[in-house]
Amino acid sequence: MQTRRALLFMPGDDRHKIEKGAALGADAVIMDLEDGVALNRKVEARQQVAAALREVHFHLTERWVRINALHTGWAEEDVQVVVPAHPDGVVLPKVQTAQQVQDISHHLSLVEHKHDWPEGHIRLLAIIETARGVMNLREIVESDPRLDGLIFGAEDLAGDLGATRTTGGAEVAYARGAVVLHAKAYGLQAFDTPFVDLSDMTGLESQTREALYMGYDGKLAIHPRQVALIQKVFTPDADAIRRAQHLIAAHHAQQAAGSGVFELDGRMVDQPMVRAAETVLARARAAGIDVDSV
Ligand code: COA
Ligand code: MG
Repeated sequence: MQTRRALLFMPGDDRHKIEKGAALGADAVIMDLEDGVALNRKVEARQQVAAALREVHFHLTERWVRINALHTGWAEEDVQVVVPAHPDGVVLPKVQTAQQVQDISHHLSLVEHKHDWPEGHIRLLAIIETARGVMNLREIVESDPRLDGLIFGAEDLAGDLGATRTTGGAEVAYARGAVVLHAKAYGLQAFDTPFVDLSDMTGLESQTREALYMGYDGKLAIHPRQVALIQKVFTPDADAIRRAQHLIAAHHAQQAAGSGVFELDGRMVDQPMVRAAETVLARARAAGIDVDSV
């Protein structure tokens, strides 16, 4: 699957931000029609996003559109106006059931047929940001082959729970773990919630690192200055790549000599550590690094 380390949000009715976002080298931009757009700008935002998809050069950055939630009654028209302009995918907020994913997938199929595009070619990401969405994760991850991944949304979830956001995040820890767990159980990608303090780069780095260590593939960004840092955290550095290669080479040598478990630099190594090292190399390759020349 496509590497998606930093996915940058911007309001869909703000052409300047879309153009700026398109030129930053983010892995993906998400042009928003939902909560980042005022109620009286919803119709305008659809038109703006469709126009931007047709006119702006996004280089290698993927183009996603977050539509409104199904219960608003706007989602269907969002799809009808924006998807003919051919985004790479649609982000569906406040997903609570498998049926909601299937409904949007069906609307996407209609547009695909009309344009003679391959079925399933417009991808889907589902945001899990309600108590019910967390409860129904199992059915959501099984819902539709169009689904590429799950996004964890902490702010809306806290609102839904009546919880208060804290720095440590204990109030959303269960859900943050459940989202990545369900995604990985079904071979989907998982993306962590945006970090809303725009000036706290230390906080952003530690929350991003935590997401990486939990198994997340990437994190949402909401400001240009967050993009490079998120990408850096999700890209193994030369040292990490060399350590992974060293461990895998030692493992092959030990296997050939008939032993499955061995000691390397004072630590026990067996299959799970080998798998973790392979994940490091896979992340590096996905980020475009030639690991053999590191
Ligand atoms: N995408 C692209 N460009 C962005 C951007 C974003 N998310 N956020 C800011 N910029 C641009 C600004 O337009 C400005 O460009 P300029 O220097 O060419 O004028 C520059 O980056 C610096 O922005 P800054 O002045 O620091 O921020 P702001 O006050 O313009 O905007 C926010 C602050 C929070 C409104 C803005 O970052 C934003 O819209 N974020 C995304 C919000 C969103 O989509 N939320 C929904 C999902 S959670
Ligand atoms: Mg939200």
